[in-house]
Amino acid sequence: MKANSCPELQNGSRTSLQNTSRIVLLLTATLLLLTIIPLYLFPLLATSLAWRSLSDSSSSSSSSSSSGDMARDSIAGLGVAQHSCDIFRGEWVPNPNAPYYTNESCWAIHDHQNCMMFGRPDTGFMKWRWKPTHCELPVFNPAQFLELVRGKSLAFVGDSVGRNQMQSLICLLHRVTYVVDASLTQDEKFRRYHFPTHNFTVASFWSPFLVRAHEADPNGPTHTGLFNLYLDEPDTNWTTKMTEFDYVIVSAGHWFFRPAMFFEGGQLVGCHYCLDPNVTDLTMYYSYRRAFRAAFRVFNSLEGFRGTVFLRTYAPSHFENGEWDKGGNCVRQQPFRSDETRLDGINLEMYMTQVEEFREAEMEGREKGVRFRLLDTTDAMLLRPDGHPSRYGHRPHENVTMYNDCVHWCLPGPIDTWNDFLLHMLKNDGGRARSRNARKSTIK
Ligand SMILES: *[C@@H]1O[C@H](CO)[C@@H](O)[C@H](O)[C@H]1NC(C)=O
Ligand SMILES: *[C@@H]1O[C@H](CO)[C@@H](O)[C@H](O)[C@H]1NC(C)=O
Ligand SMILES: *[C@@H]1O[C@H](CO)[C@@H](O)[C@H](O)[C@H]1NC(C)=O
Ligand SMILES: *[C@@H]1O[C@H](CO)[C@@H](O)[C@H](O)[C@H]1NC(C)=O
Ligand SMILES: *[C@@H]1O[C@H](CO)[C@@H](O)[C@H](O)[C@H]1NC(C)=O
Repeated sequence: MKANSCPELQNGSRTSLQNTSRIVLLLTATLLLLTIIPLYLFPLLATSLAWRSLSDSSSSSSSSSSSGDMARDSIAGLGVAQHSCDIFRGEWVPNPNAPYYTNESCWAIHDHQNCMMFGRPDTGFMKWRWKPTHCELPVFNPAQFLELVRGKSLAFVGDSVGRNQMQSLICLLHRVTYVVDASLTQDEKFRRYHFPTHNFTVASFWSPFLVRAHEADPNGPTHTGLFNLYLDEPDTNWTTKMTEFDYVIVSAGHWFFRPAMFFEGGQLVGCHYCLDPNVTDLTMYYSYRRAFRAAFRVFNSLEGFRGTVFLRTYAPSHFENGEWDKGGNCVRQQPFRSDETRLDGINLEMYMTQVEEFREAEMEGREKGVRFRLLDTTDAMLLRPDGHPSRYGHRPHENVTMYNDCVHWCLPGPIDTWNDFLLHMLKNDGGRARSRNARKSTIK
């Protein structure tokens, strides 16, 4: 079935045209931040390396599969077993067998990520796989995934990049089974798909800020809208549905670049780039941190929630030679090698902010019996400037706000790897849960 023959996806793509055009990287704020960040990040960079090795190792103690690589472990002084491997550090290597689906075989590709439909001339960007430094990450095995999630359900909470991953997952699974639209509403922001052969459900919940948000002014200081963000009020559009789900993948990112007024306890506490001399500019990192804190608290205090929460970490954009609205574009046709670039500036700060909140929630979750897992896609995606739609996310002369899309990811493309990671994590969690039960039953 083609995208054209799926009416609600058609409507969907129109709605999300606006959504896409709303994904905005704020020029002025970015410039400001770029000048501010180096001043205080330099001392931070050294510590951030150590910090990351520590946090990697702490995740390794809770997950049998992942740990920092040996160099990092020795920095952290924890000397984790040699067979363990951090699947999130590695390189992209050629994979002549990819891609595993096409825009003809999968109807679920959103128009704006259907880069081939809009004439992207090169296909090399589809032919890579992720190779962790000290082990192999198998490419997605749909039959295996479906067995693991039989009778279960998975929710994506976040923005259009989260939906991008859901559509990749549907395409990957669609190779071996069929899927029906089981949405409870016509609203394109809340979709639900069911795989009857395995009684598996995936759903997407639109919540780009994770907390309650209201567009106070469609124009605002940068003409990209001014939002009121209620940073201690998680968005009830998703919070009220979470007990139904076994797995929840939470993500958020690029919307936080927009100007916003921040409210806590119903009071205005500050803003991001509101240009109001009477309101303190607390920066977008403040809202990003508070939003994740509020979102994670939902799971740790939700009566009856027995699921696993994944944080899918920040996926960097790749505008080069200009900002998103100043002719910036992403025209590379190959991945970076890991020594060609590094996580710094805004990307590093966004990443660290959310992972710090994740670590807090994870610790609290241990007491509450809620499992938190880090789907740590940031490093891998930093290396994929070639994976975005660029100008092949719309018709050649279409008037869209973000003409060159260097935020979303073409399908098929590198975002498919997020589901390779997900399958790997489900396998390891399942294995551990079984062995834990086995041990319990032996004791009895
Ligand atoms: C799929 O991509 C090809 C180019 O590779 C294009 O000609 C075709 O129109 C696309 N089909 C759909 C259904 O998007
Ligand atoms: C399908 O899975 C749901 C949980 O996601 C469960 O409540 C339901 O009973 C299952 N249906 C069948 C027919 O197994
Ligand atoms: C919930 O979703 C509806 C429909 O998209 C939207 O109008 C509303 O603003 C959302 N609620 C919050 C709290 O963001
Ligand atoms: C800031 O506060 C002062 C004093 O309360 C008021 O006169 C002024 O109009 C305010 N400025 C803005 C931009 O709101
Ligand atoms: C594109 O759309 C914007 C508003 O959506 C409008 O202001 C602008 O004039 C349009 N540009 C062209 C070339 O049509």
